[in-house]
Amino acid sequence: MVANGGVIDSVAMSNTPTNTKQVSRSLAAVWHPCTQMKHHEQFPLVPIARGEGAWLIDYEGNRYLDAVSSWWVNLFGHANPRINAALKAQLDTLEHTMLAGFTHEPVIELSERLGKLTGLGHAFYGSDGASAVEIALKMSFHYWRNSGQTGKTKFVSLEGSYHGETLGALAVTDVAIFRDAYGPLLNNNLLGPFPGPRATSGDAACCAECVLPALSALEKLLQERHREIAALIVEPLVQGAAGMRMYHPDYLRRARALCSQYGVHLIADEIMTGFGRTGTMFAFEQAGIKPDLVCLSKGLTGGYLPLSCVLASDEIYAAFYDDHTARGFLHSHSYTGSALACRAALATLNIFAADAVIEKNCDKAQRFGALASALAQHPRVRNFRHLGMIWALEVDSAGKQFAREFFARALKRGVLLRPIGNTVYFMPPYVVADDEFAWLVKQTIGAIDDLEAP
Ligand SMILES: Cc1ncc(COP(=O)(O)O)c(C=O)c1O
Repeated sequence: MVANGGVIDSVAMSNTPTNTKQVSRSLAAVWHPCTQMKHHEQFPLVPIARGEGAWLIDYEGNRYLDAVSSWWVNLFGHANPRINAALKAQLDTLEHTMLAGFTHEPVIELSERLGKLTGLGHAFYGSDGASAVEIALKMSFHYWRNSGQTGKTKFVSLEGSYHGETLGALAVTDVAIFRDAYGPLLNNNLLGPFPGPRATSGDAACCAECVLPALSALEKLLQERHREIAALIVEPLVQGAAGMRMYHPDYLRRARALCSQYGVHLIADEIMTGFGRTGTMFAFEQAGIKPDLVCLSKGLTGGYLPLSCVLASDEIYAAFYDDHTARGFLHSHSYTGSALACRAALATLNIFAADAVIEKNCDKAQRFGALASALAQHPRVRNFRHLGMIWALEVDSAGKQFAREFFARALKRGVLLRPIGNTVYFMPPYVVADDEFAWLVKQTIGAIDDLEAP
């Protein structure tokens, strides 16, 4: 109680956030990403008061299982005590300093550790995933320029690719809903076929033979146009935004060989697939290859702070090392290599090492697969597929707004799911427990059964 109670208490009360208040304040002031704001007249905006493990909790205490790891970033749960402690200690030491001309312990140690994990020499930092993609594209182009090959101005990406939404990243993205409006602003790049059946419309089982037609097409493209092509950029093993489309590692192995043969860089965009999502630390490991450039973000900080990183081969780094300033890589962002974000990344890597996360996830994924069998066999479910800590399926539904309707129904059941078209997927934080996963499966089946039949 405060001394002159009434007045102050009622002011304090009126400032107490509630679900309704937070939603109306947000709709009045925040332009939400990837959203037609008018849809919020019909579909809920969810105000989150706090997070706890795999759960998000609103102002009325409703709990939502974060089955998509808050846009694929969270690995070890919300408000993780170990990451929190590391950040609190870093806050009292150094929050940030510019990285041009300066350096600090968290960025040095993180670069050393990422270098060891990827086998690539130097780490260049950005903020979000798209900025890493911009960096990798510019680095590749500039490498060839520094090497006297100024005609290499194009990039090859794959049908259905998603590499982010800044203009350079969008120019190597092939998802119409994100790209079409900005088409006139985008450079003309080249597309190679997706290496496998379209998991969202046919048989999801992808075999080594499935990748052969796409490899022949890639070979033809590189053979004919390698003088114009700086790099091939891929999402290794899984195209996320296209609807969790999975393909066989043989494609990567043989694409790597073709890139080396034709003098084209291979950029592995591991922004979604990195940090254990596909079962290995990085997806490219499953093909036994080494890319020339690797883009990392999302899980890099365990879902805590915006940070991205491009790791480059020694050969690429060496091509910029020169007396002439203009031959250097003069790209920068103000928050490049933020000490706080690097500390969150180090705390995340410590958890991987201390808890043998990759090994434990392997057992966990097997148990989760068994727990999901009723969903896989549901009569309205097609193409149930799985890789590492990703599960995906298509739902037969008559609803034209399937993704939004399913999101709303799942939310009522306490589950955060964000389908892509008719593709429902689980990409939970690694801390999700067996009983939570079983409950997620049950609620997903319930949400499917609630929907209008086709
Ligand atoms: C493979 C891939 N690349 C790039 C990005 C872009 O990352 P950001 O949204 O952090 O810019 C994403 C985001 O989903 C992604 O999945």
